[in-house]
Amino acid sequence: METREANGIGFRCGTWPLDPTRPTLIFLHGSGGSSVLWHGQVDALADRANTVALDLPGRGLSPGPGMRAIPDYARAVLEFVDALGAPRPIPCGLSLGGGIALQLLLDHPGRFEAGILIGTGARLRVLPAILEGIQRDYAAHLAGMDMAASPRTDRALLRPIMESNAQCSAEVALGDFLACDAFDVMQRLGEIDVPVLVVSGEDDRLTPPKYADFLEKGIRHARRAHIADAGHLAPAERPAEVNRAIAEFLDAAVP
Ligand code: COA
Repeated sequence: METREANGIGFRCGTWPLDPTRPTLIFLHGSGGSSVLWHGQVDALADRANTVALDLPGRGLSPGPGMRAIPDYARAVLEFVDALGAPRPIPCGLSLGGGIALQLLLDHPGRFEAGILIGTGARLRVLPAILEGIQRDYAAHLAGMDMAASPRTDRALLRPIMESNAQCSAEVALGDFLACDAFDVMQRLGEIDVPVLVVSGEDDRLTPPKYADFLEKGIRHARRAHIADAGHLAPAERPAEVNRAIAEFLDAAVP
């Protein structure tokens, strides 16, 4: 895994330079998170595609302020993809990152040949207790986010993510969750005309499988992978199963 930067956005990639003939998976993390979420994908999928996991503005490898709206994050990601010259980009996002991926697919038809949506939804209302908790006691909020994972997940797998999330400021995390709270593209899914993989975790309490059912029904060329014993952080909780689903999708949809 290598660490690089383009257009002020830091990212980790599986191979460099990017292969111009292969699709490029653009991995987009969730609220208050970082590219550390995708450590189980960046190298493991590098024999199948270019893999690029970025830190959204405001944290980790990407300094500066965060943002408070998904369309703003989507614009920053598109500028990054263009600056990088990423061949055949395929947005692959979790939660907030899934919202960003959806926004990109909706607003730039023809620009992306496929998309991957993991633990996310077409609407991402946030529990008021989460928004209040970040502002009242950020340390307690961070500790409480353990509930994002399945109770059956080995907590050691989550440690790098929890440590990385603790480096994200409360202000940036709050902006991320506010961006989710305002997101609603439920009426627009019919506009998407490219293959989309929808991945849900059986035990996801933050974006329950019902949200994935809605995506699967509303997106014309959707495929579904439902991961057993996984919560909201499926790529870290069940990397082998998630990677298999992504590889099979790439084989079928973007050969
Ligand atoms: N896909 C499909 N259905 C959805 C949906 C989505 N993305 N988002 C909401 N809905 C459904 C809800 O299940 C609900 O259905 P119901 O009336 O049959 O129960 C209905 O639409 C309205 O839900 P919602 O807009 O979320 O408003 P609410 O006032 O009922 O609930 C919350 C608000 C915050 C309690 C709720 O959205 C929630 O529990 N969210 C998940 C927890 C969270 O904070 N996640 C973080 C996401 S980043």
